[in-house]
Amino acid sequence: MKVLSSSMITFALLLIQLSGASGGKILVFPLDGSHWINMKVIIEELHAKGHEVTVVRASDSWYISEKSPLYTSVTVPSPGGFEQNYFEDFLSRQLEIRLQGRRASFWSKIWNRIQMERLVVGQFSQLHKGMSEVTIQMFEDENMMQSFHEAKYDVVLTDPGVGTGAMLARRLQVPLVFNVRWTIQGEAHFLIAPSPLSYIPFTATELTDKMTFPQRIRNVLSYTLGMYIMSLITEPYYKPVVKKYFGPDVDYSTFFLDADIWLMRNDFVFEFPRPTMPNIIYMGGFQCKPPKPLPADLEEFVQSSGDHGVVMMTLGTLVGKLPQDIAEEIAAAFAQLPQKVVWRYMGQRPANLGNNTLMVNWLPQKDLLGHPKTRVFVTHGGTNGCQEAIYHGVPVVGLPLFFDQPDNLSRIRAKGGAVIVDIAELDRHIFADALKTALYNSSYRENMQRLSRLNRDQPMKPLDQAVFWIEHVIRHKGARHLQTQSTKMSWFVYNSIDVIAALLAVVLLVTFSCISIVMLLWRIILVGRKVKHE
Ligand SMILES: *[C@@H]1O[C@H](CO)[C@@H](O)[C@H](O)[C@H]1NC(C)=O
Ligand SMILES: *[C@@H]1O[C@H](CO)[C@@H](O)[C@H](O)[C@H]1NC(C)=O
Ligand SMILES: *[C@@H]1O[C@H](CO)[C@@H](O)[C@H](O)[C@H]1NC(C)=O
Repeated sequence: MKVLSSSMITFALLLIQLSGASGGKILVFPLDGSHWINMKVIIEELHAKGHEVTVVRASDSWYISEKSPLYTSVTVPSPGGFEQNYFEDFLSRQLEIRLQGRRASFWSKIWNRIQMERLVVGQFSQLHKGMSEVTIQMFEDENMMQSFHEAKYDVVLTDPGVGTGAMLARRLQVPLVFNVRWTIQGEAHFLIAPSPLSYIPFTATELTDKMTFPQRIRNVLSYTLGMYIMSLITEPYYKPVVKKYFGPDVDYSTFFLDADIWLMRNDFVFEFPRPTMPNIIYMGGFQCKPPKPLPADLEEFVQSSGDHGVVMMTLGTLVGKLPQDIAEEIAAAFAQLPQKVVWRYMGQRPANLGNNTLMVNWLPQKDLLGHPKTRVFVTHGGTNGCQEAIYHGVPVVGLPLFFDQPDNLSRIRAKGGAVIVDIAELDRHIFADALKTALYNSSYRENMQRLSRLNRDQPMKPLDQAVFWIEHVIRHKGARHLQTQSTKMSWFVYNSIDVIAALLAVVLLVTFSCISIVMLLWRIILVGRKVKHE
């Protein structure tokens, strides 16, 4: 009996020790909107593993709720520039400009493009301005900073789409983990891994890893312009903050690259093969889960499709509505199909809606994508859509709208899994053709199924991988051993320009010396001959 109870006590102590050993304190600075939905998946897992999570949010947060069983929150009393109505306005305005470009001449298309860029620059400047103000507000609030210091966090987990999280980690001198694809300085790989533009397409070019000479010219120009625009949007807001709180000799261009681990929201099933870095961990598809059963009425509708199966369409949480004429064309195309259609649409009911189409305000995207009757997924190419389509192996008809969505879909197209329709060109025939191609040309399904098998065939699930590396950082107080020196170098040292210059100088010196000696010898010989002659 005694032996038993003492061994039970030992066991209990062991348990406490174990949980004590794994329970870290994690400070999260997320980015609002769809990125938060992703971040929350990681937070859920961290919470389940017994970690203590604190989330910092701006006062006008939209998706990030103040109260949650998963975390405690700290609200900074400053708006982050991510106000919901404002953002929705921005998206519909952008769509409007895009649609004005319909059947326009070459020059008005260019003009259209410029207007669109201006709108995007304006919107993102607003966001970064708000976020830099949140940072200042936070740093100036001594009580808040004191409580952060006292909490002794093990790691800061942040979305580097805004600069605040990285600055907070540096201020608290806590190891830093990025949940990343986009940073305030551009796509993550381009910042820390060697990225030859000869075979790595720059963001938003919709190019692939096989480029012709004109395409490579376009790639280089897009890179130069893209990086410049990126710095225009962010530098004016973050640079003064970095200078003020971290000193004037801090190198701004590399300040935000000093993370211990970069958890990358993609992988090489999605991405073209390219050089990477030891501290980049790929977790593409971490948000994907096996499907749950559908609600009974939806299941009944789906089953009623028989062997034809179901087409599902959603353009993401942000775009509930489309201009009426486009919605009519889409509805008319759907009505031609023998399949059943589930369409998430919040706008006015199109007159052309067929009796095979079910319009819903919300649909269980993951579960419907995983349903064996789902044949095609019509999507805008958002974060979750692309990865989930790959995970479940469902062919895609892409209707890209904003940001990097065209790029995301063009990657799936390059791998043979998607047909893309330009929303500015869309009519019922074009859309129906795209649907029929994806439905009846079996190569699309086969390719997506192959990507799905590749995505699932990994030694560790992507989410476990992400959590493992966060815990690794907690256990070892950082992951400096995985960081290359490249981010600490100026561009001319990185590219060995100084070495090339020095070597060139030596070569020139030697050549010059040789020539001088030869000329000298020549003269001596000439003088010798002259003397002899005389
Ligand atoms: C749906 O519409 C088609 C064509 O308009 C028609 O043939 C069919 O009977 C309709 N089905 C139902 C259930 O109303
Ligand atoms: C495109 O896909 C990547 C990787 O899945 C994701 O990080 C990014 O957020 C997506 N873009 C959009 C606009 O959703
Ligand atoms: C199916 O699509 C692929 C890729 O676009 C194409 O090469 C192939 O010819 C198509 N097959 C049929 C039967 O149309």
